Amino acid sequence: HSIELGEHRHYMHKEIFEQPQAVTDTLEGRITQDHVLVSAFGHEAEALFESIQQVQIIACGTSYHAGMVAKYWFEDIIGLPCQVEVASEYRYRNPVVLNNTLFVTISQSGETADTLAALQQIKQLKAKTPSSHVQTSSSSSYDQTPSSSGLTRGSPIHKTGLNIPTLSICNVPESSLTRESDLTFLTHAGPEIGVASTKAFTTQLVALSLLVTAVGKTLNLMSETQERKIVHGLQKLPGLLQKALTHEDSIKQIAQGFADKTSALFLGRGTMFPIALEGALKLKEISYIHAEAYPAGELKHGPLALIDENIPVIAIAPHDDLLEKLKSNLQEVKARGGQMIVFEDEMSCVGSEEGFQVVKATSNVGRITAPITFNVPLQLLSYHVALIKGTDVDQPRNLAKSVTVE
Ligand code: G6P
Repeated sequence: HSIELGEHRHYMHKEIFEQPQAVTDTLEGRITQDHVLVSAFGHEAEALFESIQQVQIIACGTSYHAGMVAKYWFEDIIGLPCQVEVASEYRYRNPVVLNNTLFVTISQSGETADTLAALQQIKQLKAKTPSSHVQTSSSSSYDQTPSSSGLTRGSPIHKTGLNIPTLSICNVPESSLTRESDLTFLTHAGPEIGVASTKAFTTQLVALSLLVTAVGKTLNLMSETQERKIVHGLQKLPGLLQKALTHEDSIKQIAQGFADKTSALFLGRGTMFPIALEGALKLKEISYIHAEAYPAGELKHGPLALIDENIPVIAIAPHDDLLEKLKSNLQEVKARGGQMIVFEDEMSCVGSEEGFQVVKATSNVGRITAPITFNVPLQLLSYHVALIKGTDVDQPRNLAKSVTVE
């Protein structure tokens, strides 16, 4: 990944197109033909994963959206409780920290002040315990008493000490976050210059899919068949992303319709909800159009009131268990005169009725590959809307690549 622009007008565009390679690089040496290597998370990973009973993910911005996708995966695929929260909230409240929690920070830069502060607080909490060492077999009980486990209360700590291994998923080696964590997994996205994160997000999702699998197999929560299916899906991912990128021309056409819009609504269900959030964030960041994302089932609890012909509604519609429910949500939008842009796969068949602009964004995709693949056309949409609006795509106003101050 050179940092020359080459044929691209912007770094963001270049980085969007680097994603198939970034995925290949992130998988390299981390999987075999049928397996995920637990040691990809560090030599101690297996021993540290053995005792965990839940996962806490902390991140900011786009990295937070990657964490939200992982929550669905952890609970849906391996049945392990997973919480995810933005660092700026977590660090300033008194969260209850349960014993045997894997504490995961996600950050492209590894220098985001809030994420680092949340990690440092957890480390202080661990340091206060009589034994901060990992107990891989003995400590199976939850430390659930808020008064003894509150992060900032400074009260007596559980007698066996808190077992909270820390893992950072990061794109920058030797960054502050990696230095402070027990385990590190480096995403190999290469340098990301555009302020709006694209390839870093994609590789964070790859990293998290490997983590779910590594933790799942260590805890016997995942069968070999499931593991093989995930690994084979990941092996196909660069090709799927490559294919998603071929839709750029039709997305360019759709972007024209945003030139005079002041607001947009993104809808998704399941893992497509965090992808909708990420799509809305991209549009806000680089085109300055107000954008919101909603889980499609929440439409009737508010956003339906916004719908008229002036607000484009972007729906992400993979062929999955929730498709029929999503389709009826889209009919609700249509009935109110909304204009819909639907990103679907080859199996979804949402229909090309009036009021629907449909992009067949990908072939049929699996539980892990779907959110990673569907994100790509949304990146392209924001990029082309921003080009039409003439904004500074790589350096949007008021934003910084890395927020190292509070
Ligand atoms: C800033 C960037 C975002 C990024 C966020 C978190 O807001 O503009 O693109 O997602 O920080 O950054 P991190 O480096 O921790 O992933």
